[in-house]
Amino acid sequence: MSYLTEILEPTDKNIEKAGKLLLSGEVVGIPTETVYGLAADATNPNAVSKIFIAKGRPQDNPLIVHIADISDIEKYAHDIPVIAYRLAEKFWPGPLTMVLPKNDIIPLTTSGGLDTVGLRFPSNIIARKIIKSAGRPLAAPSANISGKPSTTSAKHVFDDMNGKIPAIVDGGTCTVGVESTVISFDGDNVIVLRPGYISREDLLTVAENVIIDKGVTSELSPDTVAASPGMKYKHYSPKANIVIVDGEYSDFLNFFEKNYSDGVYAMIFGNETDIFPYPHLTYGETDAQQASELFEKLREADEIGATTVYVRCPSKDGIGLAVYNRLIRAAGFEVITL
Ligand code: TXA
Ligand code: MG
Repeated sequence: MSYLTEILEPTDKNIEKAGKLLLSGEVVGIPTETVYGLAADATNPNAVSKIFIAKGRPQDNPLIVHIADISDIEKYAHDIPVIAYRLAEKFWPGPLTMVLPKNDIIPLTTSGGLDTVGLRFPSNIIARKIIKSAGRPLAAPSANISGKPSTTSAKHVFDDMNGKIPAIVDGGTCTVGVESTVISFDGDNVIVLRPGYISREDLLTVAENVIIDKGVTSELSPDTVAASPGMKYKHYSPKANIVIVDGEYSDFLNFFEKNYSDGVYAMIFGNETDIFPYPHLTYGETDAQQASELFEKLREADEIGATTVYVRCPSKDGIGLAVYNRLIRAAGFEVITL
C-alpha cells in the first residue's frame, strides 16, 4: 500500500488526527527529544508489524514502548526492581529506556519474541501529547530505513518514509540527537545495553554499579547472543564508507594528506574548520553537540556524494560514548589508531 505522506504541524487538531490514525492501527512519524520515532499502537500486533515493514527491520529486533505516565510502567511490566523506580524518578521523562519483564498486554511482535519490554517515558511534549491522544502505549523505533542513520528532523523522516506511512508530525529538530540510553538490570547492577544522553556517570548518581555491556564498544562474534538484538546489526550507515581515525589533530592532518583524493572528506570537530585545508564536514565541539549533529552530518555525507569520510574520533566519556557507539557501527567497526 502506498500513502500520500502528510507532514503535520503539531497543532491540537493535528495531534488529535495523529492519535486517531494510531488508534486505527496506522503508523505515524513522531518527534521525540532523541530522534524521530516510527510509532504504532504497541498493543496491536497488526499495527506493529507495519513498522517492521516500513523500516525493513529484522523481526527479532524488539521495539521500545513509549508511555506518558510513570505509573504506566506497572501496566506493561512486572517484577520491577526498586532501582528502576529510583532511576525513573530521576531521569523520566527523558532519554532513558529500561528493559523489564513484560506483561501479556505487550505482544511478542512488539518485543521481538522476547519476554522483556523496553519502556521509555519521553520528555518531548509533542510526543507525550500524541501518546495521550492515542490513549495507547506507542511502540516506536527510530524512523529511518533499517541500517541507515537515524532521523533527527521531519525532513529526514520524509526522505526515508515518503509513501510508506500516512503522516509525520513535525516537531522541529531533535535536541538530543542520539537515541535513548537502554539499560537492563541484574540484581542491583545496571547494565548499559546502548549508551545515550543519560551517561554512565549520570546513572552512577543513583545506582552503585553500572556495567557497560561489551557489545557497546566492540563487535560481537556471530555466535554470541546479543543482550540487545539491535547491537548485532550494521547500523547508522550512510552510503559513504565511514572510517574513524583516533589520534591528535596534527596526526589526523598528516594521515588525511596521504589519503586524500576526489570524493574523500574529513569529519572534524567544529573548532577545527578554519584550520583544516581539505574538504570536510564538522560535527560540533562538545560531546553533547556531537551527539545532536552526528546523524544530520552522516546524511549530509551522502548528499554531497562523499565516497569515504575519515572521522575524528570522539571522546569515549560521558555522552561521547554514545557518539562513539553509533560511529563504530556506521564504520563497520573500522577504527584507525594513529
Ligand atoms: O531514543 C530512542 O530510544 C528512540 C526514540 C524513537 O524513542 N527509539 C529507538 O528505537 O532508538 P530503536 O528501535 O531504533 O532502538 C531500540 C534498541 C534496539 O537496539 C533494540 O535491540 C533495543 O533497543 N531493545 C528494545 N527492547 C529491548 C529488549 N526488550 N531487550 C533488549 N534490547 C531491547
Ligand atoms: Mg534505530
